[in-house]
Amino acid sequence: MSKRPFVIFGIFAIICLVVLPFWALAKQGSSDASPEGTVPVSDRQGLELFQINCGACHTLAAAGTDGIVGPNLDQLLGITAKSATTVKGNETRVYSAITGGVKGRMPKGILRGAQAKAVAKFVADNVQYIPGP
Ligand code: HEC
Repeated sequence: MSKRPFVIFGIFAIICLVVLPFWALAKQGSSDASPEGTVPVSDRQGLELFQINCGACHTLAAAGTDGIVGPNLDQLLGITAKSATTVKGNETRVYSAITGGVKGRMPKGILRGAQAKAVAKFVADNVQYIPGP
């Protein structure tokens, strides 16, 4: 009996098991256009909550969302130079928007407590601030 079919199968198996996964992983690594890559680990929970609960209505580059029902948060909040004070101010502003709603057009209480805080912190940390002097 010829060994040839086994050799061919072996080569095929190596391509499937080694080459393809390697290629797929290499490709994935090179596409760092994914917004998650630029967000610090401490803000990942806020990022996910934002994508699920806010992204349909708001554009925010750091979350990769492009909702147009509400204001673009990069434009609304990111117009100041980044400093501890502007970040804290934005965190408070976003938190009160989430818990209190905005003019009856944005529903209040979409998130509460720790989740609302995590999203407020994520947004405040990651809007596109103009670099300070
Ligand atoms: C159903 C759509 C909708 C969803 C969901 C939504 N928003 Fe809004 N949001 C709006 C609208 C509309 C406005 C503008 C209201 C106005 O000024 O008339 C707004 C305004 C805001 C503002 C600006 C408030 C200010 O101080 O000017 C912030 C910040 C904000 N939203 C954050 C969030 C966050 C964070 C979430 C997720 C927890 C969220 N929004 C979910 C529709 C939405």
